[in-house]
Amino acid sequence: MELNLKGIGEKDGQALKNMSKEREKVIHNSSTTPINVKFAANEVADALHPTVQHVKVVDIIEEGQDTKTFVLVPNVDVGTKKLAYFRPGQYISIRVEIEDGIYNRPYTISCSPKNANDNIYTITIKRRPRGIVSNYFLDEVKMDDKFAISAPTGNFYYEPIRDAKNVIAIAGGSGITPFISMAEAIVDGILDFKMTILYGARSENDFLFKKRLDELAKKSNLLQVKYILSEEVNPNYETGFITKEMIEKYMVNENSFFVCGPTPLYEAMNEILKEFSIPNKYIRHDALFGRVDLRGNDLYNLTVLTKGEEIHIPCRARETILYAMEKGGIETTSRCHVGECGFCRSKLISGKVKIFDDDICAADSEFAYIHPCAAFPESDVVIELPF
Ligand code: FES
Repeated sequence: MELNLKGIGEKDGQALKNMSKEREKVIHNSSTTPINVKFAANEVADALHPTVQHVKVVDIIEEGQDTKTFVLVPNVDVGTKKLAYFRPGQYISIRVEIEDGIYNRPYTISCSPKNANDNIYTITIKRRPRGIVSNYFLDEVKMDDKFAISAPTGNFYYEPIRDAKNVIAIAGGSGITPFISMAEAIVDGILDFKMTILYGARSENDFLFKKRLDELAKKSNLLQVKYILSEEVNPNYETGFITKEMIEKYMVNENSFFVCGPTPLYEAMNEILKEFSIPNKYIRHDALFGRVDLRGNDLYNLTVLTKGEEIHIPCRARETILYAMEKGGIETTSRCHVGECGFCRSKLISGKVKIFDDDICAADSEFAYIHPCAAFPESDVVIELPF
């Protein structure tokens, strides 16, 4: 290879040229046998970001109406000895096979990171209408069932160099799961910020973890929880929806807002927080919640090109392309299911899709890459998976 030596002194250039030849010689003569050395940095990276973790269910806790917490520990029989550490607010993606389908679903870890050190994760699952996986967990999963899960992932966590020391956490329904993990971590001394949780639900029975939240709040003056009921009048709680005035009561000079719950909650909070002129960096949404629920029964043909095969499956207008593939038993790489993580990124060969992920990058749209988890068909579609 000729080097371009323009702009470099003659002697330096010659030395560089010789060095390059020397290096080429050394590389050419060196052994192809991998060096048997383990680097500490790689070991730490593997421990924090394992490709897969194998777990089994050791306890199932009823959390009230149609909600259960599953306690998971490593399944050492298939090689997982230690669960990866996580940041409160992160999720794992769990793989399940139901009838002919292969599904991956993200669930927020609902315990303290301290539990991960003791090799325990908990995930809390609420039944969703038409939710194949949530219904399967609530009705079928039993003690000692085994699963493969991803490493902890997701960006909905407190970051001291970005977030304010006063956090207002706004939760709706089962959107409390990341905050129970943060609350535990505050009490365990792992996180250090003041958090006020404004927790809205339809009725008292819809509050998850209420007893646990109240106990945690008693243990730390960094934590307080305010409950709001929207469809029930009860003298023990505020009634209505979370309002600007309620939020304002807990604000100081600089505040971070973490919001997690159904789509209407995000819409309402966006409007309220606009009025406070809060910089964007202080407003965090949990991407796992607030999913778009489209209607439409039109049936299209989906052709999937993968591993040299061409697979044809049906896909309804209201189903994401990823969901149709899962139902059709196609193994996919997916984690977040909301267009955030990029794990399902695939090439759109032909057809029209409706994307609900506004954040699709310019390069992806120019070269026709889509996130099938966030794309609905509007015609027959052909896509190519990355593997
Ligand atoms: S699964 Fe995360 S972007 Fe599709």
